Amino acid sequence: MRRFIVIGRKASASEEFLLDDLPGTSGRLDILLRCVRAALLTSHGLRRDAMIYLVLLGGPRAPRVLRIRGDAAKFIRPDERALATLAKKTLASRADEEAQGFVEIKTGIAIARGGLEEVLADAAGATLFLLDEGGCDLRTVEPLAADAQADVAFFVGDHHGFDPATRARLDAAGARAVSIGPVPVHADDVVAIVSNELDRRAARQSVVTRDL
Ligand SMILES: C[S@@+](CC[C@H](N)C(=O)[O-])C[C@H]1O[C@@H](n2cnc3c(N)ncnc32)[C@H](O)[C@@H]1O
Repeated sequence: MRRFIVIGRKASASEEFLLDDLPGTSGRLDILLRCVRAALLTSHGLRRDAMIYLVLLGGPRAPRVLRIRGDAAKFIRPDERALATLAKKTLASRADEEAQGFVEIKTGIAIARGGLEEVLADAAGATLFLLDEGGCDLRTVEPLAADAQADVAFFVGDHHGFDPATRARLDAAGARAVSIGPVPVHADDVVAIVSNELDRRAARQSVVTRDL
């Protein structure tokens, strides 16, 4: 499973944002929603081996985490407005208020009260990576298994990057800092490039396995 976790330092944990002014009213939830498209969608379908967590640390109901699983979710559309509508409906639920951990609101789509700790608990056992342009080159990271059985989790910052406490917690959890190149790029581009790197590795691994 490929897991992408985007930390939205101001992103709205409540449904109180305007679809007509997403960047201006949602604490830049639009950045996180573009990551959903990059993590889960191929040109003609859903990646069944990928999931994404949006850590929502802004607004009155924070902290909350919205999780979408590619192996279960249906009708995930690529346009930002449709994704924002899905997020709005999911965040309007109060089902997580009394619950522990993730509560499924719709097939493949769940929310949890909490933040990074909820994600780390849910991704227990995964190999953790923190995306940072100062980290070591992802292309040189070996071994980085990319097959469907490998459990890897990539943490990405929003437009503000990671706060020191999140960085320290991920460091303590054993996350390795990796870079996709020397130039800082947008979060959704990072997710797309990591996905591409994993796709290429998976293709190479399947050739090796086939030739054995
Ligand atoms: C737009 S950047 C954040 C920029 C922010 N000003 C900062 O200083 O972190 C969003 C996130 O994308 C990731 N990122 C951007 N460029 C990267 C690169 N070249 N390699 C690895 N991760 C990168 C990092 O996780 C970063 O926090």
